Amino acid sequence: MTTLSENGKIDIAFTLNGQPVSRATTTSRTLSDLLRDDMDLKGTRVACGRTVCGACSVLVDGFPRAACSTFAFEVEGRSVTTIEGLEAEDGTLDPVQAAFAKKSAFQCGYCTSGMILLARALLAEHQRPDRETIREWISSNICRCTGYQLIIEAVEEAAETMAGKEAAE
Ligand code: FES
Ligand code: FES
Repeated sequence: MTTLSENGKIDIAFTLNGQPVSRATTTSRTLSDLLRDDMDLKGTRVACGRTVCGACSVLVDGFPRAACSTFAFEVEGRSVTTIEGLEAEDGTLDPVQAAFAKKSAFQCGYCTSGMILLARALLAEHQRPDRETIREWISSNICRCTGYQLIIEAVEEAAETMAGKEAAE
């Protein structure tokens, strides 16, 4: 439960990349400011700052959310995943990260964190999405370098890797 303290701060507790965390914040602070400035997680990018480009996408309870337009207090009690949370402790890349690296599915990289997290959410819903489904999912995010083709191929590659892993288990 959120608590407003006398100095106008609000105490929030949530799960961040699998770890319980708590912070004092303000009612107007955005999730992207909390992550980037208060928690030093700079992998969440901010571009438009108004829910247009998707660069700031993080996962909240597994679903993509624009961190620039989400108040920090809204994640009280929820589970937030940022790009920093995908890599395994031993440094092994998540299959989506690995596929983006393999396909070189980025140029300036500004949209990449958001695209990877979006792909993560997509592959949690659809094991083998077709191209149309991938296009539809990533249509909420803008790549200014227009590298969409390689991004789509990277998502397909990740889907294949993940399906192969599951079959082997
Ligand atoms: S920076 Fe959040 S949607 Fe563009
Ligand atoms: S790689 Fe530059 S914005 Fe997508």
